[in-house]
Amino acid sequence: MELQRRPRRNRFSPARRELIRETRFSPSQLIAPLFIVPGEKRKDPLSSLPGVFAFSPDMAVIECEELLNLGIGGVDLFPILSAHEKDPRGSKALDRFSPLAKATEEIKKNLPELTLMVDLALDPYTNHGHDGLLDPRGFVLNDETVEKLTEMAILYAELGVDYVAPSDMMDGRVGAIRRALDQQGHLNVGILAYTAKYASALYGPFRNTLDSAVKNGDKKGYHMDFCNAKEALLEAYLDEQEGADLLLVKPALPYLDIIYRIQEKTPLPVGAYHVSGEYAMLKAAAEKGYLVYEKALLETLTAIFRAGASFCLTYAAKEAAKLL
Ligand code: PBG
Repeated sequence: MELQRRPRRNRFSPARRELIRETRFSPSQLIAPLFIVPGEKRKDPLSSLPGVFAFSPDMAVIECEELLNLGIGGVDLFPILSAHEKDPRGSKALDRFSPLAKATEEIKKNLPELTLMVDLALDPYTNHGHDGLLDPRGFVLNDETVEKLTEMAILYAELGVDYVAPSDMMDGRVGAIRRALDQQGHLNVGILAYTAKYASALYGPFRNTLDSAVKNGDKKGYHMDFCNAKEALLEAYLDEQEGADLLLVKPALPYLDIIYRIQEKTPLPVGAYHVSGEYAMLKAAAEKGYLVYEKALLETLTAIFRAGASFCLTYAAKEAAKLL
């Protein structure tokens, strides 16, 4: 054949392919979500998230040290409470002596160079499972919830986090948190805004782990409708205006178009949350022998970065760091 162009020439050898590779990422762009439980010396396996553990504060420090040595970019902490600790107002969220508070303090004290984030939302703490306070009809109140999140942000800033990560999608929370942090002198504590968090079925394993599934209804009155893309640009615009430092799209792989669109429009770094259901699907398929986990994982994460993500939260952070 007489061909002007033979694109396969650039794919001829591993070295040629490596030379022209467009997307690369390193462990420093991965953030590991960590679940915190009370007590000591605990590293509990989680039945809905194979290969992921819940740590008591002392063990979380040891895990973080390992992650730091692997070059991981940061950790994001989530609490696991038992049913009797939850109430309608999520009162434990402001407990200065909770296991989450203790883990935050200990990790920052022992590993100050590790970027430390904490998720800000009420759903781990409320017995109804919603991310906010409810009015008598069961509607999630916006402004009252924002007030709570603001108090949480101040508490965790005092305990030493680098970023607070509001994951609830209430209106105006980024601005309110920024103002409160500044007033208290926490000028270097950043906000990782869950900008486009969709009302997704892919949070199932996370909610099983925290026993945080909503008891009545769903989260569609605040998390975004997965039929919408332009709305994500409005959320990005508002978070940017309100002072967010980092934007996040969640889930990740089914929402590559959203990552791509937002990062085209904003000067801020955009990250992605490869959520529990996405991770569990890979694990389950691999367990059945349908695919090779390591290859599918690296392909998935590469796709997320190729779409324009600057960083990625994933339960596979440690595994990926070892593979890279
Ligand atoms: C809390 C929160 C959730 C997740 C992260 N932060 C659960 C939810 O919104 O119901 C899900 C993360 C995952 O599935 O990995 N609002």
